[in-house]
Amino acid sequence: MPISDPTFLSATPGSAALYERAVRVMPGGDTRTCVYQPPHILAMERGSGSFIWDVDGNRYVDLYYNGLSLLHGHAYGPATEAIARQLSHGTAWAGSSRAQVEFAELLCDRVPSAELVRFCVSGSEAAMLAAKVSRRATGRRLLVRTDTGYHGSYDGFDEASGVLVVPDGDADALERLLDERGDEIAAVFLEPASVATALAPPVEFFVRAREATRAREVVLVFDECITFRNAWGGMQETMGITPDLTLLAKFVGGGLPLGVLAGSREIMEHFDPRSPNHIYHSGSFNGYVAACAAGLVVLGDYTREAIAEMNRRAERLAGLFQTAAADAGLTMAVDVSGSMIGLQPGVAKANQRISSDSLEAYQLLQHAALVEGLYLQPAEGALGLATSMDDDLVEEVGEHMHRALVRTRTWLEQGA
Ligand SMILES: Cc1ncc(COP(=O)(O)O)c(C=O)c1O
Repeated sequence: MPISDPTFLSATPGSAALYERAVRVMPGGDTRTCVYQPPHILAMERGSGSFIWDVDGNRYVDLYYNGLSLLHGHAYGPATEAIARQLSHGTAWAGSSRAQVEFAELLCDRVPSAELVRFCVSGSEAAMLAAKVSRRATGRRLLVRTDTGYHGSYDGFDEASGVLVVPDGDADALERLLDERGDEIAAVFLEPASVATALAPPVEFFVRAREATRAREVVLVFDECITFRNAWGGMQETMGITPDLTLLAKFVGGGLPLGVLAGSREIMEHFDPRSPNHIYHSGSFNGYVAACAAGLVVLGDYTREAIAEMNRRAERLAGLFQTAAADAGLTMAVDVSGSMIGLQPGVAKANQRISSDSLEAYQLLQHAALVEGLYLQPAEGALGLATSMDDDLVEEVGEHMHRALVRTRTWLEQGA
């Protein structure tokens, strides 16, 4: 398969040279598995709005926005101003801050399950904290996640560590597991829409999960690190279901690293240092003031109207992708949830799981998209929009994708 397209190679010598140096000092030449791509990882120079430029000056429309961690695009003026203002006063200190308190108030106001919040630095860390406090609250050890569930880098979610896994959206399987082993299970982690595919199980699944966990006093955790973008108070607001704990991360730091564990007063009070048996939880950069200041601005500007507009554009873009695939003669499942879009080339219809054929076709599509000026997530997973994408750019991206799909199809035929 021509995963090293000559056009790509001749356009990216600067990235190739940096990659050669990078592999000597970092395994695989980078520090995030999800950005690895053959033949070399692109080195980026800058971003603005919906565009990013690599070190060779190539411009890409970004459909990944750093793992969907930017809501208003790159270098969003009000956020960079808030950060710059804060920089002159220092970025972090031990002690509280006005920005941290105001940001906690904003989150408790928006997210239905958030009676109290605790800050950390990433989604992975928020998930780890959720596991810890659930174990303390229940006196049990086991964690449950779905087969497509991704909650970050904590090894407690790896199958090798004994996490129990149920198929995403399968309420019968979850109820069975809770019947059989409920008295060993501390928490069930669910994503309202999968970050792997952008597929959202029916609300019925979450209703049954809520009832079954409540009945067995198991903590229900919604991972809304990404799906918080889909609605003002997260997808729990839209579904009308309140989990015990919620994980937030990504864009909440306004472009800087920040993670949040939010939840019921009863559970979150385990972190309260005023109580004698509290959980010791510290972190030098927990809730650091520059990220809280940026988050206040970014979420403040993410109004119900802005969300509705972006979700409408995502629907349009998903439709364009579907038409482009049909036109290019390539089978591709396209799923959309809010402003998340999942692409599975080589898969006939939505609702199917990622397969190895689909992964190979996706890698080719991602490479072809780079040649056509589109930056997709290097590893298969949900793409997304930012509010910086206007209607014209949505149409333009549809055309880029069409050309990328035609190129992919040619490569697939050559490889066949
Ligand atoms: C749903 C979900 N949860 C948790 C995480 C982990 O967050 P972080 O990368 O900030 O550690 C991610 C990251 O992609 C995610 O998509």
